[in-house]
Amino acid sequence: MAMIAPSLLSANFADLAEEIRKIEKGGADYLHLDVMDGNYVPNITFGAPLIKSIKKISSIPFDVHLMVDKPERFIKDFVDAGADILTVHAEATTHLHRTIQEIKHYGIKAGVALNPATPLNVLEYVLGDIDLVLLMTVNPGFGGQSFINATKSKIKSLRQIIDSRGLDIILEIDGGVKLSNAKELAELGVDLLVSGSDIFGAADIEAKAKAYKDLFDKAL
Ligand code: DX5
Ligand code: ZN
Repeated sequence: MAMIAPSLLSANFADLAEEIRKIEKGGADYLHLDVMDGNYVPNITFGAPLIKSIKKISSIPFDVHLMVDKPERFIKDFVDAGADILTVHAEATTHLHRTIQEIKHYGIKAGVALNPATPLNVLEYVLGDIDLVLLMTVNPGFGGQSFINATKSKIKSLRQIIDSRGLDIILEIDGGVKLSNAKELAELGVDLLVSGSDIFGAADIEAKAKAYKDLFDKAL
């Protein structure tokens, strides 16, 4: 069954503890945390200190998505802050294999994210080393953008690669996911769907998170 990772990017930052409580009550599987550096992407969000603070008041695993240049500089900071999955962009690190090994050295899950225009073949020689692939279904930087339809064939291709090789890899997508397209996307073979604005922008955040879970329950 597909899982859901609400992205804190679209939450009310004046009341994070309460926002997190709502998605936990709604059954969220992970909390997705978008770290942006204003360089790799044209936006700045938050870093390890904020994650460390909210880790203390949260009970679900943290799925940390680093949209920063040279993410290898910060791996230990995010491990210490409480990341359960740490995902780096293949486009942002020169020595991807080494960066993955560094993450795994700390005993947490290592993920690799690919922008919509980046081909799957950059993963060819690291697929055996990673726990998660995050396919961006918008260009990274902002919440609330529209899903890029051309990424659907990429999702299907990656699903086929994972299954045919018997790999133990979580297929995650990020960007433009709504309750209205989540069923179709889950049926393409996505394991973990990130949803930011649709969940945290809802009048009833807990109910919206729960609606995703119910949808996956029925669909698959
Ligand atoms: C975009 C971020 C996403 C974003 C998704 O750079 O990585 O996680 O929060 O937001 P929505 O669900 O609003 O497209
Ligand atoms: Zn993200």
